[in-house]
Amino acid sequence: MWIENPLNSIEEVRLQRIPKPELKPGHALVKIMVAAANPTERLVFAALPLPGWSFPTVCGVDFSGVVEGVSDDVKNVQVGDAVFAVNWSSGHDDSAPVIGGAFAEYISIAAYKLSKKPEALSFEQAASLGCIGVTAFQSVIDVGGVSRGTKLLVLGGSTAVGSLVIQLGKHLGAHVVTTASTRAFSYVEQFNAADKIINYNEKKWDENAEVKDFDVIIDCSPEKGTLAKALAGGVVRTGGKYINLTDFSYGFDPTAHPPLSWAAFYPAHQDTANQDFIADLVVKGKLRIPVESRFPFTQEGVTDLLQKMLGGKSLGKNLLLISQ
Ligand SMILES: NC(=O)c1ccc[n+]([C@@H]2O[C@H](COP(=O)([O-])OP(=O)(O)OC[C@H]3O[C@@H](n4cnc5c(N)ncnc54)[C@H](OP(=O)(O)O)[C@@H]3O)[C@@H](O)[C@H]2O)c1
Repeated sequence: MWIENPLNSIEEVRLQRIPKPELKPGHALVKIMVAAANPTERLVFAALPLPGWSFPTVCGVDFSGVVEGVSDDVKNVQVGDAVFAVNWSSGHDDSAPVIGGAFAEYISIAAYKLSKKPEALSFEQAASLGCIGVTAFQSVIDVGGVSRGTKLLVLGGSTAVGSLVIQLGKHLGAHVVTTASTRAFSYVEQFNAADKIINYNEKKWDENAEVKDFDVIIDCSPEKGTLAKALAGGVVRTGGKYINLTDFSYGFDPTAHPPLSWAAFYPAHQDTANQDFIADLVVKGKLRIPVESRFPFTQEGVTDLLQKMLGGKSLGKNLLLISQ
């Protein structure tokens, strides 16, 4: 069964039987065990003109599974390997025209995108970490340059990405402050990663006397206008960085917002080494990715999963159990 997906609404999602994908050069055919939902699915329903994405399509970018076939030129994985990946495309991986394909029994995917699943990692954990793990790695380490003593403010500590960002920041020795709502406060507390959690229902983060002079802000929240608020309130220091993961309107030029040394929207890019790094920290118990809900691979299960993503209230990952 496959999801032959939508035009504009969840009502148009159909679980359909379509042909098994053909193995292309450079590709592996993977039997999917578990797929994970991301707000990318929300973007589909908002009918954003994502480059390279036409309808009908099979949605879902995160999955784990077992390799069932490889083309002759593939060397990094072989039949029987347990693997995981995030199947990004244009904007995140310009060598790949087609995005998604994870809400299905099989995917044919460029083999360079596949990480081998460590034995100690469950298929659920592996499916959960691709998209958010790579995004957290690149925003915290590659762009943020976070290290011991960095003052790191994370807007949206209860988002799936944000929960990894605060944990990774703490793991690297940063002083971590984050925001969360009243209902999500204890969820964020459980990670023991934030030195301070600001309840944004009680107090505005940008009007908090203790929230000043941060080296790096990573914005994982849907709140608008956070750069202007951060600058006006002295929340980020001169020469500091503002890394926005949610709002294209900040543009892609990191030098466009002086006096900051880096300030823009950041689209994470395909990187298998980053996937492996995050998976290793999960295996070692240094990072946790909670699962909020599991859904069966049925018409009703898929509809419920997508409703959940559209709601924007998740605390942890929502999984589609495909072949387990
Ligand atoms: N740039 C990239 O490459 C990239 C990659 C991956 C994800 N993303 C983006 O990152 C964002 C987060 O993704 P996700 O999967 O982590 O989302 P998610 O888990 O679905 O986020 C849901 C959480 O956001 C919280 N939230 C809502 N409004 C908030 C606010 N104003 N301040 C703080 N928290 C708020 C919600 O709790 P409350 O409502 O109770 O606060 C809920 O816990 C999405 O916009 C996604 O598209 C970007």
